[in-house]
Amino acid sequence: MSMVRHRAASVRVLTGLLVTATLFTAGCSGDSDDAGKPTRTPRPVNTTTTQTYDGPTALTVDVSDMSFSPADATIKVGETVTWEFDDKAPHNVQGIGDKAMGINSPIIKKGEWSYTFTQPGTYRYLCTLHPDMRGTITVE
Ligand code: CO
Repeated sequence: MSMVRHRAASVRVLTGLLVTATLFTAGCSGDSDDAGKPTRTPRPVNTTTTQTYDGPTALTVDVSDMSFSPADATIKVGETVTWEFDDKAPHNVQGIGDKAMGINSPIIKKGEWSYTFTQPGTYRYLCTLHPDMRGTITVE
C-alpha cells in the first residue's frame, strides 16, 4: 500500500514540473525580439526600496487613530513628506491615479516612510486597508 501511494505522489510531482517547464519554454520562444539579449530579470514585486529620498522632511503626516493628519497639505516641488505610522492597526500610503502611482508604501504599524515630490500637482492617496483613510498633498 505504501509503495503505491508513494509512486502516485511522485507522478504528481513530475507532472507539475513538466507543466512548469513547458510554460517557461513557451514564454521564452515567444520573445523572438529578445533572442540575442541577456535573460530579463523578473520585475521586483516591491519597489519601495528604490524610493527616492532627497532631502530633509518638509512635512510630517501622522498616521494614527485611523486617519492621516494633516489630511491635506501643501509643499513645494522637491520637498519630502514623511508619514509617521503609530497606530494599533497597520496602514499604508497608496497614491490614487497614474500620477500618484509612485506613492506606494509598505504596510506599516510603527515606523515611517518618506516620498519626495518632484513634479507639481495634486496627489491624492489612501490607505488600501481602510479606504476611508484619505489624504491629499498639493505640490506647488
Ligand atoms: Co489604514
